[in-house]
Amino acid sequence: MTMFSYTTLLAILTIFISTSAVGSCPPSDRAALLAFKAALHEPYLGIFNSWAGTDCCHNWYGVSCDMESKRVADINLRGESEDPIFQKAGRSGYMNGSISPSICKLKRLSSLTIADWKGISGPIPACITSLPFLRILDLIGNRISGQIPEDIGRLHRLAVLNIADNLLTSRIPRSLTNLSGLMHLDLRNNRIWGFIASRFRASSDVELSGEIPASLGKMAVLATLNLDANKLSGEIPYSLFNSAVGNLNLSKNSFHGYLPDVFGPRSYFMVLDLSYNNFWGPDTKIFVSSIIYRALGFESQPPMWEDPGRPTFRPPRSIIVCL
Ligand SMILES: *[C@@H]1O[C@H](CO)[C@@H](O)[C@H](O)[C@H]1NC(C)=O
Ligand SMILES: *[C@@H]1O[C@H](CO)[C@@H](O)[C@H](O)[C@H]1NC(C)=O
Ligand SMILES: *[C@@H]1O[C@H](CO)[C@@H](O)[C@H](O)[C@H]1NC(C)=O
Repeated sequence: MTMFSYTTLLAILTIFISTSAVGSCPPSDRAALLAFKAALHEPYLGIFNSWAGTDCCHNWYGVSCDMESKRVADINLRGESEDPIFQKAGRSGYMNGSISPSICKLKRLSSLTIADWKGISGPIPACITSLPFLRILDLIGNRISGQIPEDIGRLHRLAVLNIADNLLTSRIPRSLTNLSGLMHLDLRNNRIWGFIASRFRASSDVELSGEIPASLGKMAVLATLNLDANKLSGEIPYSLFNSAVGNLNLSKNSFHGYLPDVFGPRSYFMVLDLSYNNFWGPDTKIFVSSIIYRALGFESQPPMWEDPGRPTFRPPRSIIVCL
């Protein structure tokens, strides 16, 4: 559903990763890749058959190197793909095994995508936070469990963190809000838990205690925040409604309490889904309409839908607010 913007974002980000075959692979990078491969089992497509020979920068499926450093920069393994190798096999990919910490020896790694293989389990290697060039971490659609590394905030170049549709049982690490370049944060459909302990304070700079840090809403470029289908509770930080976030799905958690009417001039939601929680507002019907009109970019009056003189606007794709 946020696929278009996400794909666009990926396209923009990967333009900067040079994907040409450079023709030399440091033996240490090759060894790290082979250890990574050894911890995985891909029975149907044979994608790892190409991981042979000494030059890992050339014709290794899903691997590409940086032209300047001549180091491995990009691992891109998607279980759902248009690649001919998948058409031939006539099915979507499946892999099990785990993500080897040897991946952390690829010190120039900029993008790590191991997505939609359905069977990969085990934790996210904690050492992943020692990869200073990492911009994309996309592990969606596996059976990865355990914690989001507590010091994920060290990855100061990270723009995409997508670990949706896994079995993570983590709190949201506090250090996450140190990722000032994060644009896309997708943690949906895990078992992420935590709560906001204290009431939000409207115009306070004091950070809230609790596990959804209020400072998430202060992340300047964060555009997508999907936390739906987890086990989060408490109240929603005020700052989230007045932030750069345009895709916000908090559906199917246990958030409760007063839903602040805080649609400011900056909030412009393409997608807003607060359904299946336990919110309440001042006067439910009027309140919900007011939220919708404000989210559409109007001050407080309902728009005149048939007025031909009305300037056109791009309506949100979805607004679902159930109190
Ligand atoms: C992966 O699946 C195969 C069967 O396809 C099984 O024999 C093997 O034990 C599995 N390995 C892991 C680590 O789950
Ligand atoms: C965020 O970064 C600042 C400055 O580098 C550091 O002092 C702080 O401890 C970090 N916060 C977390 C929660 O990691
Ligand atoms: C929000 O998340 C829920 C639960 O995962 C999902 O069913 C729903 O379609 C999402 N809402 C939107 C507007 O995408």
